[in-house]
Parts: sequence; structure tokens; C-alpha cells
Amino acid sequence: MEKMYRIAAVPGDGIGHEIVPAGVEVLKEVAKRNGFAVSLDDFDYGAGYYKKHGVFMPADGLEKLKNYDGILFGAVGLPDVDDTLPAKDYTFKVRTNFEQYVNYRPVRIWKGVKRPLSSEKPFDFVVVRENTEGEFVQVGSQVAPDRPHGMGVDTSIFTRTGIERIAHYAFQLARKRRKHVTSVTKSNTLINSLTYWDRVIREVAEHYPDVEHRFMYIDATSANFVLRPWIFDVVLTTNLFGDILSDLGGALMGSLGLGGSGNINPEKKYPSMFEPIHGSAPDIAGKGIANPVGMFWSVALMLEHLGEAEAAESIMRATDTTLEQGFLPVDIGGNSKTDELSVKVIQNL
Ligand code: NAI
Ligand code: MG
Repeated sequence: MEKMYRIAAVPGDGIGHEIVPAGVEVLKEVAKRNGFAVSLDDFDYGAGYYKKHGVFMPADGLEKLKNYDGILFGAVGLPDVDDTLPAKDYTFKVRTNFEQYVNYRPVRIWKGVKRPLSSEKPFDFVVVRENTEGEFVQVGSQVAPDRPHGMGVDTSIFTRTGIERIAHYAFQLARKRRKHVTSVTKSNTLINSLTYWDRVIREVAEHYPDVEHRFMYIDATSANFVLRPWIFDVVLTTNLFGDILSDLGGALMGSLGLGGSGNINPEKKYPSMFEPIHGSAPDIAGKGIANPVGMFWSVALMLEHLGEAEAAESIMRATDTTLEQGFLPVDIGGNSKTDELSVKVIQNL
């Protein structure tokens, strides 16, 4: 019997409704060609759902998603919905409850795509972002916000368990790559939480004598992303810093629309969730011009996670070919529409 994967599709809002269907078309075709089956179910969770039902997903939403082998996600957020809700009530909820403590965000060169910086050397690295704690735990409060002495507090939380597990993941990943980890913090100023991070990284690094590592501050790292991106292999960093650096990574490639990512539970106790690095892009939603490449890459990352490495590679090759043939989405200077690009990628598989 052929293998069957159960996939939940959560387009979310805005261009999610354009790129997720494009990704699903590619997924269906690649499954056919690689001898496995996918069964897909759609979930309408997100800010649109909130406008109808007052919540981003129903009370049993996580229970439902839990039964799938993988989740393909677009993005959540709409201009007329409180923008503090999408992350809190959907994205972080899924990442935290499903112990998706790795946010895997690769950056590489897409041949055929003009980049804003003309670095002479090629680059190919992965931002490994801690995905469940750090600066994004949303523990805090506002005290007397309307008063002159009002204040707002957010607490960052870094646990030994949290740092150790992301560090082991990063070092093991580096072993399969160019054997180099750059740990990015700002421990010269965040002298409690991030010196603790540094200390635990050093301890974990001792288990991987074959992998080189170095420490770099976030400010210097930002400059190096622009000036010398080829020096990076695995960039291990915290939740907030990883969020920012991966958008910078998207920009290095040529557009936010080019970045794929996985929210990964390496133990496979829960499904992992794959999404492009960008948001719901309300400014271009509904026009059919969203760049689906980050979504295609996310589908490839999902297949790799499920053990279908060949299928994953074929998506990457077909996407490369499509871009090199000059079929480029609007955000990178072309005029190919979202669904035209999925048709071309399918032809090139
Ligand atoms: P954004 O990533 O949606 O858009 C930033 C800019 O990049 C926009 O000009 C947009 O048109 C462009 N862009 C993004 N993806 C593109 C694509 N595939 N093709 C072509 N152009 C693309 O970020 P923004 O504007 O800060 O946020 C919009 C909404 O998305 C907000 O409600 C925000 O909360 C939400 N958001 C959701 C995320 C998620 O669900 N994981 C992540 C980031 C933002
Ligand atoms: Mg982000």
C-alpha cells in the first residue's frame, strides 16, 4: 500500500488564500510523481474566522489539528482586526502547544532572481530560531496605562530545557551541513537571560567537538548579514532576534515572498507547521500576484520532515528552473501571477 500523509491546510487570511492553494497544487502533483498519497483538509482559522465567531479557532481546534501529519499554514492577520491577536490566538498557540520549538528558516540564493545586494560570493545558511520561549512568551502587564506614571512590562523567559533542546538541534543540523554554528544574542546588555543562553550553548557545544561555534551580537550580525552573508552556516538565535533576522534573510534573497519555514517538533510527538516567513500582506491580497515561492519551499520542508527528501528536492529544482526561465512574480520584478507560477513549477517537476 502506498504511504498516505494527512495534511491540514490553514490558509489563514489575506494572501494565505492565494499561496496555500498554489502550494497544495504542487504538493498533490509531487505526491503523484513520488508514489505517496496526501489527504488534505481545509481549516478556516484566522482573523476572518474571528470576525464571524469571536475566536481565531474553535475550542477544539488544536485537538483537531493534532491528528495530522503536517500543517500547511499561510498567515493570519487582517487590518480591521486587533493585531495583537493573530500571534497570541493562533500562531503562538500552535507553536507552543505542539512543542514546535524549532523555527527552521533557510536562506539561499535563487538563481534568476535579482538581489538587492550584489554579493560576489554565494550564501546558503539556516536561521534556527528558538520558537516557544524567550521574548515572545507574552508574560507581563500594563500598569496604570492612562496615568503619567503608566508602564508596560514584557518579561523574557529562557529555560535550561528550552535552550538545550534548540542548541542540540542546531549543532546536529550543523553536522549535516558545513559544521559551523553562530549563536546570536546581546548578552553584553541582557546580562541575565542571554548570558545564561551563552552558558548553556557552551555546555551543549562540548558534545559536538567536530562542530565549530562562535558568538556574535545581534547588532553585528545584522551588519554581517548584509556585508558578508557567506560566513554563516547555522545561525542559532532567540525568538525575537530570529524573527527579525529571518526577514532580513528574506530581503537578502530578493523578497520576503521567497522565504520558506518550518515550525518543527523534532520528536514528531505533534505535527509540525510549515509556512512562508511573511505575513498576510493585506496590501496585495486578492490581486493574484502574491509570490508563492516561500510557500513552495515550505511544502518542500514539510516533505523533508516527513521523510520524502526526493520529493522535496524536486520541488526546489522545479522552482529554481521556473525562476531561471524568467517566470518571476511581481514583487521581484516579473509579471507572473501566483497560479501561473504553480502551473509552471508543476510542468517543471
Ligand atoms: P507582511 O509580511 O504581510 O508584508 C510586508 C510586505 O511584504 C508587504 O508590502 C507585502 O505586500 C510584502 N509581501 C509579503 N509577502 C509577500 C509575498 N508572498 N509576495 C509578494 N509580496 C509580499 O508583513 P506586515 O505587513 O507587517 O503584516 C501584515 C499582517 O500579517 C499583520 O496582520 C501581521 O500581524 C501579520 N503577520 C502574520 C504572520 C504569521 O501569521 N505568521 C507573520 C508576520 C505578519
Ligand atoms: Mg516575522
